[in-house]
Order: sequence, then structure tokens, then C-alpha cells
Amino acid sequence: MAISGLLLLGCCLMWQGTHDQLVCKLVKIDCLGNPARIINISCHLKAINWNLAVVKMDTFLIVPLRKPVIRLQVFKKDYSNQYKPFLIDVTVNMCEIIDKRSYIPYGVIFWKLLIEFTNANHSCPFTCQLTARNGYLYTSLVPPFPLGFYLVSILFTDISSSPSEYVGTAKLYVQVMEQVKTKKKPRV
Ligand SMILES: *[C@@H]1O[C@H](CO)[C@@H](O)[C@H](O)[C@H]1NC(C)=O
Ligand SMILES: *[C@@H]1O[C@H](CO)[C@@H](O)[C@H](O)[C@H]1NC(C)=O
Repeated sequence: MAISGLLLLGCCLMWQGTHDQLVCKLVKIDCLGNPARIINISCHLKAINWNLAVVKMDTFLIVPLRKPVIRLQVFKKDYSNQYKPFLIDVTVNMCEIIDKRSYIPYGVIFWKLLIEFTNANHSCPFTCQLTARNGYLYTSLVPPFPLGFYLVSILFTDISSSPSEYVGTAKLYVQVMEQVKTKKKPRV
């Protein structure tokens, strides 16, 4: 799995130069949480234009998230409208990524998104209010998936206790599509 991840990432770098017409548009977001760990989850998309919708998320951690581990899985919708596993299923210890003790590619990508779009832009642990604003998947960051509809599931657990505890899940529904070009108004 790590190998295919690296391959995808490699393709991504080559791909950027030639086809910057594709966009990964967020079409829906669902956030679920373990009520013993997080409360007041609010999770929305705000449409900006034909090509872009951004995430607005707020939640409150009633128990500090000390050692978050994420399981990142990608599913692609097939011809029968079912989401089937698609290439990526990785489990990443986020504190190790943040402290640069691990460089698992999808962990690093996720960390870049956290730095840019959330207040979780610091080392572990995470406490109290968690907020994301204006988040989206920019094409230079994510691999060049084929056109279609995807589900990106990010499941959070905290491994600081034994047994580890489920914290929550974010489900991002994404359409990889060609950029919609709107006609410019003719100049008068
Ligand atoms: C959670 O939401 C309730 C109801 O809106 C509010 O009274 C409470 O202060 C919120 N708690 C936190 C920690 O944000
Ligand atoms: C983290 O985010 C806060 C608020 O958005 C910002 O003030 C701070 O400079 C950021 N820190 C880093 C290390 O990016």
C-alpha cells in the first residue's frame, strides 16, 4: 500500500505540469463523533463557485486528543453506484508526522491541510475547540485520481489509552472533474 501511495504521489508531481484542468470538488461532508470524546459537531460545506466548495467545521473535544491515529481510506463510486475501496488505506500516527518522525505521504498531505485550514496546526495534544475554515483539496496536493466520485473517510482514534478509543470520523465526498469554465461577459 505504501508503494502504491508513493507511485501515486510520483505521478502527481509529473501530472501537475500538464493537466491543471482537473479539480477535486467537495460535494458533501459528514462528521461523526464519539459523544464521550467530542461534542457540538458542526460540519458544513460552503459553495464558492462551480469548481469549489469549502469546509467549515467546529467541534469541542471534551477529552484531550493525545495520540491521534488516523485511518485514511479512499473509495470510488463504481457503475452500480457503490463505493468500492480504491488504492488507499493507510493508518498514520499523526504525532509522528507532526514531529517529523514519520513521512508517510498521506499523513504528510493531511498534516499540510491541517496547517493550512485548521487551528490544529501545532504538536500533540489537541484540546478544546477544533475549527476548520475554508478547507478544500487543492489539486497540486492530492494525487491525480481518474474522473469520478470518491469518498474519503478519515477515522480518528486516540491510542494514548489502552485499549485505544474511537474519537470520530470525517467523510468527504469528492468529485474529480474537469474544471468548469464559465464564459466571461463580453467587454462593452
Ligand atoms: C455546546 O452547545 C451547547 C448548545 O448550543 C452550548 O450551550 C454549549 O456551551 C456548547 N459547549 C461547548 C463546550 O462549546
Ligand atoms: C496556527 O493557527 C493560528 C490561528 O489560525 C495562527 O495564529 C498561528 O500562527 C498558526 N500557527 C502555525 C504554526 O501555523
